[in-house]
Amino acid sequence: MRYKSQSVAYWYFAVALALFGLQLVFGLLSAAKYLGPDPLLYLLPFDVTKVIHTNLLIVWVLAGFMGATYWMVPDESRTELHSTKLAYIQLVLWVLMGVTAIIGYLFRWGTGNKLLEQPLPHKIVIVIVMLMFLYNIGMTIKKSGRLTTTEGVLVAGLGLAALLYLPALLEYDNYTVSIYYRWWTIHLWVEGVWEMIQGGFLAYLLIRLSGADREVMEKWLYIIVGLVFIAGILGTAHHYYWVGVPSYWLPVGGFFSALEPLALVGMAIYAYSAIRRSGLAHPNKLALHWTVGSAVFTLFGAGLLGLAHTFPSVNKWTHGTLITAMHGHAAFYGAYAMIVLAMITYAAPSLTRRPEAGTSMGYWSFWLQLGGMFGMTLSFATAGIGQVYLERIMGLGFLDTQLKIQVHFVMLVITASIFAVGVALFIVDFFRYAPRFEVGQDTGPALRPLQPTGA
Ligand code: HEM
Ligand code: HEM
Ligand SMILES: [Fe+2]
Repeated sequence: MRYKSQSVAYWYFAVALALFGLQLVFGLLSAAKYLGPDPLLYLLPFDVTKVIHTNLLIVWVLAGFMGATYWMVPDESRTELHSTKLAYIQLVLWVLMGVTAIIGYLFRWGTGNKLLEQPLPHKIVIVIVMLMFLYNIGMTIKKSGRLTTTEGVLVAGLGLAALLYLPALLEYDNYTVSIYYRWWTIHLWVEGVWEMIQGGFLAYLLIRLSGADREVMEKWLYIIVGLVFIAGILGTAHHYYWVGVPSYWLPVGGFFSALEPLALVGMAIYAYSAIRRSGLAHPNKLALHWTVGSAVFTLFGAGLLGLAHTFPSVNKWTHGTLITAMHGHAAFYGAYAMIVLAMITYAAPSLTRRPEAGTSMGYWSFWLQLGGMFGMTLSFATAGIGQVYLERIMGLGFLDTQLKIQVHFVMLVITASIFAVGVALFIVDFFRYAPRFEVGQDTGPALRPLQPTGA
């Protein structure tokens, strides 16, 4: 840690990890309900556990993004944060917003628009928090007078993410209109501006961890972001196939969304070539695992499994089934959970007393999570294929179908438990080392004597 104010990141990471753990409790509860008699039916029905599961995901991932930004911006701009006080007030507001929203959902207080269910007062707090955050980051950069391309991409992504949340504040009586604008937030987040956020963190981590040349990395970052936008904006139409809008959206959605994986292929090659060309000199190899892992798992979960159901001819069968859940889990985890875990793993040796190289618990956590999430993805996939065939092709009723695909949910609960053990190890590994906020130089490949490459 080179700047004292970077220590605020610790508290954001601590909150993010605690809420990540809680998210899984509600995921397991949701999965268990597929298996039969539900003793909690009248206390915590499926719609309530699911909305809490997905909203906690968004709250913790955004807390992770904010913490990681507070870590990265001082490093890139070579200055202290504008105001640590503001950063702490912002975190308290964020936690209060998240916790009260979750309690509200228990009593069915929400606006009912999937993933954007937050009640209006909560939505207003979200906007205020984002403004405080952007102001703090903006002032920090302005004061320093130094803006790198890497942090520029990150901050532009965060700013646009805040802007794209605004349509979510409006309510429409017409369902078609409501769902039309819902995707301006959800799709343009995950397949647009959040990819800039992921790209910014990825470039930062690769430059720091592999010692790759900044100029080259930043040039390729531009190209990746360009590809994201060329395909991602009109790719929104892959959500417009069956919602009551004109049919010209079908070819537009099919064509442009099929191009979306290009940027993700680019991102994976980017990560691989950075470590191949610049070597594995950095001692924090655990952070490198998470960094490269994020790029590769995104290609699998978002690129490959997104492509699998993005053409109208496929999507007419799979729309809104467990195939969607298959892709949603693998994509969200690879792109946004893993990149946050990568930033935490990179910063942890400076923020806490964790050894730089990582611990064996850290490696266990990485592989159990990866294996568990891969198994969960396969469970949702097999359940989804069965569901599409029985329900949509053979015409069986929803509940009859669910009875026949229960075995896949047994597999889901088993693989999700493996995943949850991996996450629990990550949380323990983070909290078992006391925080330390001493200012000093970070270790890094550039600061160590050159080593022979062995080639
Ligand atoms: C990191 C990137 C991505 C994330 C986090 C992500 C996540 C998600 C999530 C959570 C949903 C469910 C949304 C809902 O129903 O409310 C979804 C739906 C969908 N995604 Fe993605 N996605 C990503 C990238 C992609 C890409 C690159 C493609 C195509 C190549 C794609 C194709 C689709 C399609 C077609 C649906 C609609 C499924 C349906 O009709 O039910 N996604 N995605
Ligand atoms: C213990 C681990 C987990 C379990 C057991 C679990 C289980 C579930 C279940 C049963 C659903 C409802 C699916 C449906 O509507 O039928 C769901 C939804 C969802 N989960 Fe998880 N989950 C877990 C972890 C995660 C993680 C780590 C992420 C992201 C990083 C995630 C993201 C999502 C998303 C985006 C949805 C909404 C998908 C949609 O509606 O299409 N879950 N989860
Ligand atoms: Fe999309």
